[in-house]
Amino acid sequence: MKRSITSLVMMALLAISLVSLFVACEKKDDQIVIGANIYTFADNFMNGVMKPELESYAAGKGVRIEIVDSEGQQAKLNDQVDVFITRKVDVLVINLVDPAAAGTIIAKAKAAGIPLVLFNKEATERGVMASYDYVWYVGTNSAESGIIQGQMMVADWRANPTWDRNADGIVQYVLLKGEPGHPDAEARTVESVRAFVDAGLQVEQLALEADPNWSTQHGNDKMAAWLTSSFGNRIELVICNNDGMAFGAINALKAAGVSLPIYGVDALDQALTHIADGEMNGTVLNDGVNQSRAALDLAINAAMGLSVTEGTRWTLSTDGSKAVRVPYLPVTPSNYQEFRN
Ligand code: BGC
Ligand code: CA
Repeated sequence: MKRSITSLVMMALLAISLVSLFVACEKKDDQIVIGANIYTFADNFMNGVMKPELESYAAGKGVRIEIVDSEGQQAKLNDQVDVFITRKVDVLVINLVDPAAAGTIIAKAKAAGIPLVLFNKEATERGVMASYDYVWYVGTNSAESGIIQGQMMVADWRANPTWDRNADGIVQYVLLKGEPGHPDAEARTVESVRAFVDAGLQVEQLALEADPNWSTQHGNDKMAAWLTSSFGNRIELVICNNDGMAFGAINALKAAGVSLPIYGVDALDQALTHIADGEMNGTVLNDGVNQSRAALDLAINAAMGLSVTEGTRWTLSTDGSKAVRVPYLPVTPSNYQEFRN
């Protein structure tokens, strides 16, 4: 009897160790695997700042990240997420193509029981972030960038009376807008202009054109067309939702031999060079390095089943948006040196 109990125990122990061996075999190793995307590799900021930081920070943390190009197509991203889910990644780090399509991605992650960190394009659909306990957002406070850009422009406008070329006391501006419906583009467009109005200055919009890809080509083409239009010689200020579009506009201005005050957002290296060369008047640091780090810190914690901000320097906003918001900073001719890499 005694012997058979012992052998039963032995058999049970053997069974347990076989099961754990099987489980260990099923998951090749215990390295965390992150399935990630960029909405399009053609985007200066996403490809030039966020992607390299996501890669190097992941490497430093010993996690594996795979970043795919969604080529500006939400349908493509939906398929890419399906593939990540089939391959059982531990966590998803997703840059929406269409900010209104968050619900689709969240539903997929929820059905698969995989945690999800959205970054850079905040979901616009109301209540969607509350539909899944394991979804978070990492980005910025969109309005802040427009406010900072606007205040910078107001201060410079006041300091440079000759910028009012027709001396009518009104700011005649053109505006290069990013993706319509993108919270950053919408807020920057409104807030940058509102700063003038709030400062008691009158504004007149001569033209505004949006580009879903926030591209340099768009900036170049629109600026070139505006300069030769009927209002071409009335333009006093060029407001750009991002640096990428400003680069194109600077190119068009140079080609036309015209010099106008011009402002962007992002603080890309090339923008700092344009500021140094006196070809750009200011930009706003969009801190992609820290946004990438925050996205990965949250993702890794989520994959480990920890509270997402545990052991990190990030805090979730208290407004129910489940978001980490990295601050923007003004970058001007007097401080741009501090932002050089
Ligand atoms: C950046 C833009 C970029 C966009 C992509 C914004 O936060 O300022 O440069 O094109 O994100 O979603
Ligand atoms: Ca004027």
